[in-house]
Amino acid sequence: MENYKPVTVITGASGGIGEYLAYEFAAMGEDLLLVARSADKLQTIAAKIETQYSVNTSFLALDLSEATAGEQLAEHLKQNEMQVRHLVNNAGFGLNGPMQKLDRLEQLNMIDLNVRSLTDLSLRFLDEVAANEGGILNVASTISFMAAPYMGVYGASKAYVLSFTEALSGEMKDRNVKISAVCPGPTATGFGARSHMDRSDLFDHVPTMSAKDVAKIAFRDYMRRKTVIVTGISNKPLPYIIRLAPRWLTRLIVGKLMNTEK
Ligand SMILES: NC(=O)c1ccc[n+]([C@@H]2O[C@H](COP(=O)([O-])OP(=O)(O)OC[C@H]3O[C@@H](n4cnc5c(N)ncnc54)[C@H](OP(=O)(O)O)[C@@H]3O)[C@@H](O)[C@H]2O)c1
Repeated sequence: MENYKPVTVITGASGGIGEYLAYEFAAMGEDLLLVARSADKLQTIAAKIETQYSVNTSFLALDLSEATAGEQLAEHLKQNEMQVRHLVNNAGFGLNGPMQKLDRLEQLNMIDLNVRSLTDLSLRFLDEVAANEGGILNVASTISFMAAPYMGVYGASKAYVLSFTEALSGEMKDRNVKISAVCPGPTATGFGARSHMDRSDLFDHVPTMSAKDVAKIAFRDYMRRKTVIVTGISNKPLPYIIRLAPRWLTRLIVGKLMNTEK
């Protein structure tokens, strides 16, 4: 194990925010293991990174929502004599629509990915990242701060990510390890189409950031050991406003923005 190469593991690195986080860690000189389901996309990104930066970049095509995914990832690392220095739990998806109309199994699958897998990997590799003086960067959302009608399960999953990460940071405060949750607002990636958010008004009314800008801020503030990272000037006041606003008002406004049933 001592001779194993330290790497940064990034989930959901086949596009969007995960891809740009991969460029940030590569620019710092970190060897990478990119994880997602799409082998072809991962291969293209890994090749691009190896041409642009002098780091080793490998990939693993894996469905992280499967119950055995954590075990498969750990086995892959062992087989390839790698150990985790930084873990970026970025893979995730949302679903927009009334809960009783959305597919129940798809909503449960979202919990398997956004919550279960993130928790499994964080706990599984915590000792390893601490031993390597690295850390864990979990991707939450600005939705983590509020209940979100018409995006209820997704919002609850991201509230979990923020709460879990803050608690973990509290437990690790005396250790030389970084623990951060990044909370992006609407970001131009494949997320909108995958979540059917193109049917709601959110992306029309709220400023959208690029995945590159989100990744740059997330990486910078993670390195500065910031626990909760809210990306973008327009999103920064949100946690404070939500704290002051009556909960019924927040539910009403968010519900209006997310409602696809009009
Ligand atoms: N875009 C936004 O507005 C926004 C805002 C706040 C938070 N976020 C969060 O940011 C994170 C990244 O999303 P994104 O915006 O970059 O969206 P994206 O472009 O759709 O990227 C999602 C990534 O997750 C991977 N993924 C999805 N299901 C997976 C599974 N079962 N197993 C393994 N990998 C899987 C996808 O790759 P494959 O399809 O190849 O598996 C892809 O690489 C997510 O956690 C999302 O909730 C996004």
